[in-house]
Amino acid sequence: MESQVTAGPRLSCSEALASISSNPAGHFANLTPLLMKSHERYRWAAGILDIRSDDKILEFGCGVGFAVEAVVPLLKKGVITAIDRSPLAIAKAVQRNVAAIKLGKVKLLKADLLGFTNEGIKYNKVFCFNVNFFWTNKSLEKESKQIRSLLKKGGLVYIFYGPLIGKGYESRLQLVSQNLEKQSFKVIQSSYNERIRCCYIVAEP
Ligand SMILES: C[S@@+](CC[C@H](N)C(=O)[O-])C[C@H]1O[C@@H](n2cnc3c(N)ncnc32)[C@H](O)[C@@H]1O
Repeated sequence: MESQVTAGPRLSCSEALASISSNPAGHFANLTPLLMKSHERYRWAAGILDIRSDDKILEFGCGVGFAVEAVVPLLKKGVITAIDRSPLAIAKAVQRNVAAIKLGKVKLLKADLLGFTNEGIKYNKVFCFNVNFFWTNKSLEKESKQIRSLLKKGGLVYIFYGPLIGKGYESRLQLVSQNLEKQSFKVIQSSYNERIRCCYIVAEP
């Protein structure tokens, strides 16, 4: 018999994933395998970030905090700050990472990338996962200037996307690289993982 999907609450993709995580037998139970894959992609991204013991990391557009959760076990003395402009997403990210926040490893803030200052603190790695503006035709001038101002000398920006349909990562990597280069970033690495259908770009300012 076909399984039925009943109407559930209207949630964003990341909120639906958070809902499965907190209640695997609930409304979105049919999507539990998707959640498992989803967690895998954040662990994959944490691996690409090649975290060093004293890294200072910034994630923007952190959603409900899955990537933060994947990064925390790899930090020794390091810290991660994550921001999102959605108060609901930040509230969920706080719930998810409450233990690491108490240990002082994680700071979660409701903020838009363009308005974020954090008292002049600079980061050696800035990353985002599935934040759209890098692959649209919109100008990246303001965002690029802001990312540069948040990076320490020698710091890097990491941009992750996925899962993408088919070979969607090929065009995504091309478009994001072009957009970054237009803003004088130097793309130093780009690749994809065919199994989880995710891709990434690493660039220096
Ligand atoms: C598709 S969701 C991805 C969430 C999370 N990175 C993940 O992979 O689960 C994009 C998130 O980026 C946030 N976002 C988009 N533009 C932003 C900006 N300029 N500043 C802060 N957050 C932003 C949105 O609020 C949303 O939570």
